[in-house]
Amino acid sequence: MQRLLQAQAHIWKHCYSYVSSMCLKCALELGIPEAIHSHSGPMTLNQLVEAIPVRPGKAHCLHRVMRVLVHSGFFELQIRKRGGAHEDEEVYSLNNESKLLLRDNPVNLDPFVLFTLDPITLKPMDCLSTWFQNDDLCTVETAHGMISWDIMVSNPKFGSLFNSAMASDSRLVARVVTDSCKWVFEGLKSLVDVGGGTGETGKAIADTFPDMEYTVFDLPHVVAGLQGTRNLKYVGGDMFNEKIPTADAVLLKWILHDWTDEESVQILKKCKEAIPRKEEGGKLIIIEMVMDNPAVGDEKTKETHLLADVFIMNIMGLERNTEEWAKLFADAGFSSYKISPVLGLRSVIEVYP
Ligand SMILES: C[S@@+](CC[C@H](N)C(=O)[O-])C[C@H]1O[C@@H](n2cnc3c(N)ncnc32)[C@H](O)[C@@H]1O
Repeated sequence: MQRLLQAQAHIWKHCYSYVSSMCLKCALELGIPEAIHSHSGPMTLNQLVEAIPVRPGKAHCLHRVMRVLVHSGFFELQIRKRGGAHEDEEVYSLNNESKLLLRDNPVNLDPFVLFTLDPITLKPMDCLSTWFQNDDLCTVETAHGMISWDIMVSNPKFGSLFNSAMASDSRLVARVVTDSCKWVFEGLKSLVDVGGGTGETGKAIADTFPDMEYTVFDLPHVVAGLQGTRNLKYVGGDMFNEKIPTADAVLLKWILHDWTDEESVQILKKCKEAIPRKEEGGKLIIIEMVMDNPAVGDEKTKETHLLADVFIMNIMGLERNTEEWAKLFADAGFSSYKISPVLGLRSVIEVYP
């Protein structure tokens, strides 16, 4: 009987685990991290209710949401002694994780959470089994009748949420890269960031290396109206059908996981045409996950990689392991590569012509 009950508990845990994600989204929409941050010191539930747009009659429900968020590691809960036996009070404070969700934190991940948990992003996951049985290209098509890049154009608000999510990730990655991985970019006189979005990674790298000519290359509607800087410029174009601007190196951050092997080989070949030979310093710098990498083998990372891989299946993309990366590089005509697992969930992969 014990086994039966354990199996039931396991199923229930997985049925309810999305509730934790939704509590996180609710906390951001209500501005809970900001409210606790603005308060001088840890905050009681009543103080929190007064500071955010919650009807007083629903305060007890907020307590339950906060209990989930404390349990899932987003806020700290302390008991403040007040003298009398029944007067102790619970107070909330921020931890490292919730500080990363503050809007004025330069590496704030709030847009990433709001994009990932937006109903438009979630709906394709609900279509997974339908998609397995129909002829649609991807679950996004089953859910929305078009592919993701077209949704961004037809729904500019969602497109802008997507770009903000990418930009927020880029600011965080750029901070780590320019702090701990400068060696990757040293000696490069020019770099083209293919699919570089709104240029957040670019701005940080271009500032760190003022002698580098940095080009952000992305679809015309993504870079339209964006202002470059002294050593950073935006170029609109399509990486499949147009010439990629030439440079010492090409950066592909979070691009290839969006595309099938066939499409990725096409992109890699186009990038190869844009850089000089290995002897002249030419290389690709890829920032992506490497599944099954023993160097980043903790359980949390492993699970996140597995989930991210199914998530990206929504757009027919995939996360790759070392062997799959190696095959892709060989198929595109590259001679060697080096994987450096220096970015937490992701790695820097240098690929040589
Ligand atoms: C997952 S986002 C990554 C953005 C950025 N590299 C980052 O990490 O924040 C993929 C990017 O590829 C761009 N993209 C999609 N199709 C493209 C194409 N055919 N040519 C150029 N860029 C494209 C998208 O506009 C988007 O900015």
